[in-house]
Amino acid sequence: MSLAVHDSSYVRALVRERSAIVLDEGKEYLLESRLAPIVRREDLDSIGDLVGQLRSQPFGDLHARVVEAMTTNETSFFRDAHPFDALQDHIVPELIERRAGERRLRIWCAACSSGQEPYSVAMLLRDRFPELQSWDVEILGTDLSTEMLERARDGAYTTLEVNRGLPARQLVQNFEQAGPMWRIKAPLREMAEFRVMNLIEPWPLLPKMDIVFMRNVLIYFDTETKQDILAQIRRVLRPDGSLFLGASETTLNLDPAFERVAYGRASCYRIQS
Ligand SMILES: C[S@@+](CC[C@H](N)C(=O)[O-])C[C@H]1O[C@@H](n2cnc3c(N)ncnc32)[C@H](O)[C@@H]1O
Repeated sequence: MSLAVHDSSYVRALVRERSAIVLDEGKEYLLESRLAPIVRREDLDSIGDLVGQLRSQPFGDLHARVVEAMTTNETSFFRDAHPFDALQDHIVPELIERRAGERRLRIWCAACSSGQEPYSVAMLLRDRFPELQSWDVEILGTDLSTEMLERARDGAYTTLEVNRGLPARQLVQNFEQAGPMWRIKAPLREMAEFRVMNLIEPWPLLPKMDIVFMRNVLIYFDTETKQDILAQIRRVLRPDGSLFLGASETTLNLDPAFERVAYGRASCYRIQS
């Protein structure tokens, strides 16, 4: 299925307007391969027909599906490992001391895709910090993609997915087999709540967060959008809270209010006091 230039420009503009994702020109194959399943599902003849339908209607479900199809949902359990080492060895122990009075922790995994990141945090807290079981701990996972969030809520993963980053001990301890899938056990599923949230739309009221993971999503946005989102994170993060970005992302040259704090091979960002 091939894509005419004016149709690819339309799709690029739609995706940018609704998600802030910048799709570089010259990647028509990516657009084509992501749109082809929608063309088939809608029983249309070509991508041109699909774009024709999109153009002829106000923004609705079909547009939203096209935008979702253009998101990259790559993720894995304990992705990049080092941030989780920093949580385990430094950040959570420090928070346990600092929050001993209120016994409450709020953690947000923004752009969490199919949920491996929030469940990695849940497993780490449950396995390494049993004392937190009597605390009020909530992990919020959000994403633009309703399809990914459905998967996250279901908490069921293929063998391939659990083999990526999840130590065998954790798999046996924290998952149960559900047919060909591995389903995260109920107590861990219950630690996480999943909600649709588009980072470029007005943010809902969120609790003040102790830890924010916003990894591997800012890379898709332009500078202004990154700056705007970082400024909003500052309003949500507690003054001593920690922000984790993806390995190739930084606040440097974007938001001088953040400073980088290194923990071994991991780094997080804190609001400068
Ligand atoms: C590469 S995944 C990152 C998943 C996870 N954070 C990680 O690092 O493993 C990027 C996610 O960002 C989401 N995303 C893209 N644009 C978004 C937006 N404007 N608002 C919220 N989520 C968005 C996508 O749906 C996708 O699931």
